[in-house]
Amino acid sequence: MFNIAVFVSGRGSNFLALYESLKKRQSEAQIAAVVADRNCQAVEKAKELGISTYFVSSKSREDFFTYEELKQILLEGETNLIVLAGFLKKIPDTFVDSFKSRIINIHPALLPSYSGKGMYGINVHKAVFNSRERYSGATVHIVDKIYDHGKILAQQKVDISTAKSPEEIAERVLEIEHRILPEVVRKIIEGKINLDT
Ligand code: GRF
Repeated sequence: MFNIAVFVSGRGSNFLALYESLKKRQSEAQIAAVVADRNCQAVEKAKELGISTYFVSSKSREDFFTYEELKQILLEGETNLIVLAGFLKKIPDTFVDSFKSRIINIHPALLPSYSGKGMYGINVHKAVFNSRERYSGATVHIVDKIYDHGKILAQQKVDISTAKSPEEIAERVLEIEHRILPEVVRKIIEGKINLDT
């Protein structure tokens, strides 16, 4: 079994898109754990689906694990891949080292543009909107020690020239996210993407 841990902070639509795609393909892979840094919708959904949930370094919970403890849990659970799907905290360097090239992230813009500290969620779409870009899109990349920096695994653009607000851009980009994240994960499972750089 190929075990995936999904890290979340919000509504969890990317987590669900991944869950559904694995289910549909009756994949040999499963989302074995959902990890959050706060109480959020994604955790509620994971619980409903019977997936183990954990909190890491959380301000809103007392029952959280440290990254070191979480590392042990994920290693014991024979985790093959960690997917950051709307996870808002920076992953500590030591944790990145422990799962070197085994952590991927979905970013709601065309990296390397609109990246770095503070560039998450609606902030990204506001910046794109204010720059009157014709295109935006989504990028899946390997997580290294620098924000939004690791090797790009997939990227797809979408025409946003008629979008009237950052929210409208977010909607169009989200559709792309829901397509490319499951696709990249599928290719990793099938060995069609090599994560070792
Ligand atoms: C997505 O746009 C993701 O790319 C960004 O935060 C949003 C999370 O959405 N980092 P969801 O929680 O997956 O619905």
